[in-house]
Amino acid sequence: MRCVIMQYVIKGGNPLVGDVVIGGAKNAALGILAAAIMADEDVTIENLPDVRDTNVLLEAIEDIGARVRRIDPHTVCINGSAISTVRVNNDFIKRIRASYYLLGALLGKYKRAEVSLPGGCNIGSRPIDQHLKGFRALGARADVEYGMVVADALHLAGNHIYLDMVSVGATINIMLAAVLAEGNTILENAAKEPHIVDVANLLNSMGANIKGAGTDVIRIRGVQRLHGTTYSIIPDQIEAGTFMFAAAMTRGDVTVKNVIPRHLEAISAKLKEMGCEVIEFDDAVRVVCKSRLHYTHVKTLPYPGFPTDMQPQISVALSLAEGTSMVTESIFENRFKYVDELARMGANVKVESNVAVISGVNRLTGADVSAPDLRAGAALVLAGLAADGYTVVDETKYILRGYERFDEKLRLLGACIYQAEDERDVRRFKLEAV
Ligand code: EPZ
Repeated sequence: MRCVIMQYVIKGGNPLVGDVVIGGAKNAALGILAAAIMADEDVTIENLPDVRDTNVLLEAIEDIGARVRRIDPHTVCINGSAISTVRVNNDFIKRIRASYYLLGALLGKYKRAEVSLPGGCNIGSRPIDQHLKGFRALGARADVEYGMVVADALHLAGNHIYLDMVSVGATINIMLAAVLAEGNTILENAAKEPHIVDVANLLNSMGANIKGAGTDVIRIRGVQRLHGTTYSIIPDQIEAGTFMFAAAMTRGDVTVKNVIPRHLEAISAKLKEMGCEVIEFDDAVRVVCKSRLHYTHVKTLPYPGFPTDMQPQISVALSLAEGTSMVTESIFENRFKYVDELARMGANVKVESNVAVISGVNRLTGADVSAPDLRAGAALVLAGLAADGYTVVDETKYILRGYERFDEKLRLLGACIYQAEDERDVRRFKLEAV
């Protein structure tokens, strides 16, 4: 049997020019799909990104008995009335970390949930103690038993919860569990990411009473039940940022459409510091880069700081910038794993603890590299687009977790990139691309 390993083969050097349309936010979608099972009526979700992580979560939702009707690739109707088990199959959890949102959703709705400890991209140790602390504060027993997180309660009651660190996942999971709890919950030191607001808006349109999402204090007044709704997911900030950096690195001119420019402020600010022109429209951002990028320093922080999910992309861009930059990763300790791969392309990056010191080089040269995780994989593709010669990025399965038609969108901007299934495909591409 032929072993199919998907790879991207890239011939670098083309400036990206044109328009690209951004899809719905993956990380909002994951919280929203879990929330949708909490009603016993139809919840229709629009602008759903058609990516691996959302599709695996939909499979998990269907597997516990919810009705899932895919209306088109970007619209799905979920009805949680027929859910027959609160135990989520281990296989789904191993494939995507965000299945843990089913913990909050099932606990909130049925007062019991059993979900294996989550997997996901290997970017750090990723504990879930804050999620469990929140569930316990609402009156649930929440323990890890035989590799499963088991949470149950006779009834859930609102409480005052302070998160020890800002966590996107814990904020969403506690919101999910608290919307159907009795009384008021106040969640302090909550994450403020746009997707938190999006999940709260969806829940409110299902009849929940959540105030303050987008600030660090979220107030939830428990309601008896949630009802059906139709809701459209916000645009993906990280997909947009990735294309903005692709424009910058290839000295291109790209208009990134269907975005909320306010969500991109940290990214736009860094691109401007690096010498790009960034022009904001109502729902689009144009990035123009005419000369070599300048160095800058950046530290990843919770929103509205510079997103950790954009750290590999900016680092790869800085590897070609004039001067020496410092990139500090303050959220996940394992997020510099791509640096060795980038070094194969000629980059000069030294990592000491959570800081990368990047001495910009004049050019990168194509090489065979392997994507260690989703965002680093996308960043290596950007490196390939800016490098001389051919780059092969292996393990594209990670990239497909979060980017829809990534290669196709890049091709429409003039990139020379193809998916290859084996060595023969790679050789054919290289011959044809000459
Ligand atoms: C979400 O992960 C995203 N995933 C990640 O996106 C993103 O990188 C991250 O938020 C930060 O923005 C999803 O939304 C599915 P956290 P999450 O809880 O929720 C520590 C991508 O590429 N922490 O905000 O897992 C944790 O170790 C992915 O799309 C605890 O210590 O991140 C980290 O240092 C990868 N205990 C920090 O908090 C906890 O109980 C922030 O993590 C929870 C978190």
